[in-house]
Amino acid sequence: MNDVRAMVRVVLPTQFGEFGVAAFEVHGGLTYLALAKGDLKDGTPVLTRLHSECLTGDVLGSLRCDCGIQLRLALRRIATEGRGLLLYATGHEGRGIGLIDKLRAYVEQDEGADTVDANLRLGLPVDGRTYDDAAAVMHALGVGAVRLLTNNPDKVRGLQESGITVEGTEPLRTAAHSRNVGYLRTKERRLGHLDTAGAELQRAPSPPPDAVALLGDVHAPAGRPYVVLKYAQTLDGRIATASGDSKWISGEEERTVSHALRAACDAVMVGVGTVLSDDPRLDVRLVAGASPLRVVLDSTLRTPSDALVFGGDPATVVLTTERATADDRARVRDAGAGVWTLPSGPGGVDLASALRALRECGVRSLMVEGGARVITSLLGAALVDRVVVGTAPKIIGSGREAVGDLGTVRVAEGISLHNRRVHLTADDIVTAWDVGQEGAEQLRP
Ligand SMILES: NC(=O)c1ccc[n+]([C@@H]2O[C@H](COP(=O)([O-])OP(=O)(O)OC[C@H]3O[C@@H](n4cnc5c(N)ncnc54)[C@H](OP(=O)(O)O)[C@@H]3O)[C@@H](O)[C@H]2O)c1
Repeated sequence: MNDVRAMVRVVLPTQFGEFGVAAFEVHGGLTYLALAKGDLKDGTPVLTRLHSECLTGDVLGSLRCDCGIQLRLALRRIATEGRGLLLYATGHEGRGIGLIDKLRAYVEQDEGADTVDANLRLGLPVDGRTYDDAAAVMHALGVGAVRLLTNNPDKVRGLQESGITVEGTEPLRTAAHSRNVGYLRTKERRLGHLDTAGAELQRAPSPPPDAVALLGDVHAPAGRPYVVLKYAQTLDGRIATASGDSKWISGEEERTVSHALRAACDAVMVGVGTVLSDDPRLDVRLVAGASPLRVVLDSTLRTPSDALVFGGDPATVVLTTERATADDRARVRDAGAGVWTLPSGPGGVDLASALRALRECGVRSLMVEGGARVITSLLGAALVDRVVVGTAPKIIGSGREAVGDLGTVRVAEGISLHNRRVHLTADDIVTAWDVGQEGAEQLRP
C-alpha cells in the first residue's frame, strides 16, 4: 500500500455547495485533493469521481478536451446526491505526460495527429497514469467501494487492481464541441472510452444528442466564421405567430438539440428583434456543455440593460454602429457586455464586417438563432454555410416567416441546399443542409 498522508483539512464552499477538503501528499511530492460530501464511511459504495488534473480544461475552459465540463458535472452530480467524493489527481495532466508535453502534443494535433498518435510522435506514453496513489488516498479516507463517475475503463481496472471495489460506473457524457469532437471520438475508438466498463448506475443521464453531425463539415472560410442558421418553424413555415409569440414552437427534445448545437459552436448570434420579443438567455442549459460567446446585432443599442442575454457566466458582445449614443454604449457596458462599433450596412450592422470582427477574435463557428430579419440578411448576402431547421407538427396560419424577401423571381434561382441530414425527435423533425451549389465555393460579397 502506498504511503499517503493528509496534510491539511478544511471546508471549501463551492458553487456546488460545501465540501470537506483534505489535501494528501502522495509519492513524488504530488498533491491529491479529496473533496468529500456526506458520510463516506457508512459502508455503502461512494459516488466517486477520480479526476485527472487538466489546467487548460478545468481552469481555463479549453474546448480541446471535455475535462472542465466533466469536472463540474461530477461536482454537481455529487452535490445532488448529497454524498460523494471527488479526488483531484495532480500529476495526471495530459494523461500523465505533464503540461508542457501536453501542449506539445496539441501542436502535433494541429498538424493532423490524433490524441494518441500525437503522444507517440513525441516518444511519450499514450497514457502514463497510474491509480495506486488514488486508491491509497481512498483507503485513507475509509472508502473501499465506489460507484465511479467515468467513461474510462482503465480507471476502473486501475482502482480495482489497487484494492478498490468498483460496484458500477456512471458515464460523464458531454455535448461535443466542433473543436473537441475529434478528440472525443478518438478516445472512444482508440482508448475504449464510453465503454462504461461495468454495470451502469440506474440514474445515468441520457447522452446528449449527436448535434455535431447536424453542423456538417465545420470549416472557417477566409475572413469569417462557418455560419449555421438554426430556427424552429411550424409545418406551415412560421417561426412565430403574427403577434410575435414563438414559445414554444418545437418540443423539449428539439430544444435540447439546439442547446447541443450551441455547445458545439464558438458563438451564437441573434438580432435585437429577438432579444426584444423573446428575451433569450442563449446559454447552454439542457445539455452538459460549454456556453458559447453570445452576440447581438443592434445598430442603435435598443437591447435593454436587464436583458437575460447579459446575465449568467457566458460573455456577451453587442455589435453596433456609430448611430448608438454614448449613453447607451456606457449603459450596455455597465450591464457587463462588450460593445463593438462597426460600419452600418443595409439591414443595420454591416454583416461582412461583423463576421470578420468575430473571426478575428477567434470565432470559427457561429450559430445564428434568428430572427427573421437577420436570417434574411445573411441568406441575401450569401453568408450562410449550413441551415438547421426544426419543423414542428403545428399549423398556425398567418404569422412570421423565417425568410423574407430574397428577390427570387424563379424557383430555379432559389438558394439550393444539399448534403441533407435528418434527426428525428419525439415530436419534431430536424433537417440540416449545406447551402449553395454542391461542391462549389459559395459566392461571397
Ligand atoms: N422560431 C424561432 O426559431 C425563432 C428564433 C428567433 C426569433 N424568432 C422570432 O422572430 C421574431 C423576431 O424577428 P426579427 O426579425 O424582429 O428579429 P431579429 O432578426 O432577431 O432582429 C432584427 C433586428 O436586428 C437588427 N440588425 C442589426 N443588423 C442587422 C442586419 N445586418 N440584418 C438584419 N437585422 C439587423 C435590426 O435592428 P436595428 O436596426 O435596431 O439594429 C433588426 O431590426 C420574434 O417574433 C421571435 O419570436 C423565432
